[in-house]
Amino acid sequence: MDDITVGPLDLAARVDEALAVQAVAFGLTPEEVGVRRHIVLRHLTSPGARALGATTAEGRLVGFVYGMPNDRSHWWSMVVEPYLRANGHDGWLDDSFVITELHVHPAFQNRRIGRTLITAITSTADEPRSILSAIDKDSPARALYRKLGYRDLARHVVFPSAASPYAVMGAQLPLLAPENGCAQGAQPS
Ligand SMILES: CC(C)(COP(=O)(O)OP(=O)(O)OC[C@H]1O[C@@H](n2cnc3c(N)ncnc32)[C@H](O)[C@@H]1OP(=O)(O)O)[C@@H](O)C(=O)NCCC(=O)NCCS
Repeated sequence: MDDITVGPLDLAARVDEALAVQAVAFGLTPEEVGVRRHIVLRHLTSPGARALGATTAEGRLVGFVYGMPNDRSHWWSMVVEPYLRANGHDGWLDDSFVITELHVHPAFQNRRIGRTLITAITSTADEPRSILSAIDKDSPARALYRKLGYRDLARHVVFPSAASPYAVMGAQLPLLAPENGCAQGAQPS
């Protein structure tokens, strides 16, 4: 596990590598990759947007995370706002760091790379809390987020063009540490 390094990622320069990881981890068609490419590059122009990557000793990108301080005028925030408001949680859209994407290549999953990526990026946030959305079903992502302290703020959230409903989750920062001490394996550089 000491063969993986987590550190700052120039996501604009390596967007195609990152989307190749996302395509195999999350399942994206070539058409969806093209759409995501534009969205990622636009996101990276947002104030405070940042990314971390997990790379092998050979420099292969095997995981990444990116996010930014939430902006209520962004599309994602506007879609989730009525669902959060209905539950009295819309205040979470202020002073919150949004995890926009987190993906680890399947050949490298279950090595605490995902945990290290999201913990490291949120540790750089000035905001006191973090929010994200995940497909509203039991999954490794939902299990990871719960372990880190994320709780459901809204469920059955429908994004236009998404096939499945999502859950919006929020956590106070810093995220919870692993129960058995320091993360083994992937180490933040
Ligand atoms: C979600 C994802 C990023 C997790 O990355 P990972 O590096 O495999 O996760 P980690 O090894 O850091 O796992 C951390 C915790 O998550 C949970 N977890 C991870 N994989 C799990 C699985 N298959 N089943 C149940 N829990 C799982 C575990 O509780 C684990 O805690 P532990 O280390 O104390 O056992 C990865 O599974 C992935 O890329 N999935 C596909 C894409 C995706 O769904 N991205 C999120 C979009 S919202």
